[in-house]
Amino acid sequence: MLRAVLISLSESRALRGIAERSAIGQRVSGRFVAGTELEDALRVTKNLNTAGLSVSVDNLGENVTTADEARQSAALYRQLLSELSAQGMNANVSVKLTHMGLDVDPDLAFMHVSSLVAQAASLRPKNFVRVDMESSAYTQRTLEVVRKLHQQPENRGFVGAVIQSYMRRSEADVADLLGQGIRIRLCKGAYKEPPEVAFQPKAEVDANYIRLMKMLLKSGIYHGLATHDENMIREAKGFAIRENIARDAFEFQMLYGIRRDLQQSLMREGWRMRVYVPFGTEWYPYLMRRLAERPANAIFVAKNLFRK
Ligand code: FDA
Repeated sequence: MLRAVLISLSESRALRGIAERSAIGQRVSGRFVAGTELEDALRVTKNLNTAGLSVSVDNLGENVTTADEARQSAALYRQLLSELSAQGMNANVSVKLTHMGLDVDPDLAFMHVSSLVAQAASLRPKNFVRVDMESSAYTQRTLEVVRKLHQQPENRGFVGAVIQSYMRRSEADVADLLGQGIRIRLCKGAYKEPPEVAFQPKAEVDANYIRLMKMLLKSGIYHGLATHDENMIREAKGFAIRENIARDAFEFQMLYGIRRDLQQSLMREGWRMRVYVPFGTEWYPYLMRRLAERPANAIFVAKNLFRK
């Protein structure tokens, strides 16, 4: 119930505007967001790299409504890719197609993300663009874009998709993407979806996560398992050990500021660990989805509201 309310609030444009402009809002978002500027993301990335963790940087923003906004977002990502390379960071980038203008003009979004993938593939060392998955209204289009980009030989291996285990269609999508050699990030899914398209009970979402995780780990392609769920992690570790899958054949991924203890312990055990680091001024929908996942986070946020 609370999850549904928080997810609905995450979609409110009015609240988003108020929250993102307020000083208090900026302070509380700091628990889950590196900061508002590119320099903040680079500083946090450097610290995480020094601690042995790799990173995926996300410039916060989604559902832009003008071609100009989309162009600016793409320009910031270009700068980000250049800086990560120039500073020798162990970090790739995560991007949302609606941030690149998918709602404005699909061709425009394709052009922007295509130029980012081309840039990533031409850097030395080469880098990688992960196309985040948004709500089910975008699933088909997002996967089509990733497939189309990956079909270009020079892009192979430098662009990847995200699959959400709550989606009923995901098993078929995973089979298709694996057939094309596309790298996948597996997560549970963060949006409110109707029962026709998504499993609702946590047990079903988790069971599908485990089923899909096994498909990924057996594929011989380098994938990411994005979760903070200790049960999912235990299942993945156990499967990898039983099937003799090397610890560097895949990576675990977690969000910045969440389960830092688990991030460290996995790394110490010799598993690969990547932290998803969001930065930027448009943090409101991201923060609200994190609160929806764990309403106890709302208490943390509330406490910060009253801290001097
Ligand atoms: P689950 O929600 O079942 O939580 C299991 C346990 O993890 C909780 O009991 C708690 O201990 C801890 N936990 C989970 N969320 C927490 C939080 N917010 N704060 C504190 N503790 C928390 N989604 C999507 O739809 N598209 C995408 O592209 C991505 N990308 C992505 C990248 C990365 C690196 C991660 C880690 C996650 C995503 N997600 C995502 C979000 C994902 O779909 C999902 O909503 C969250 O990861 C929460 O699910 P868990 O697997 O952690 O399990």
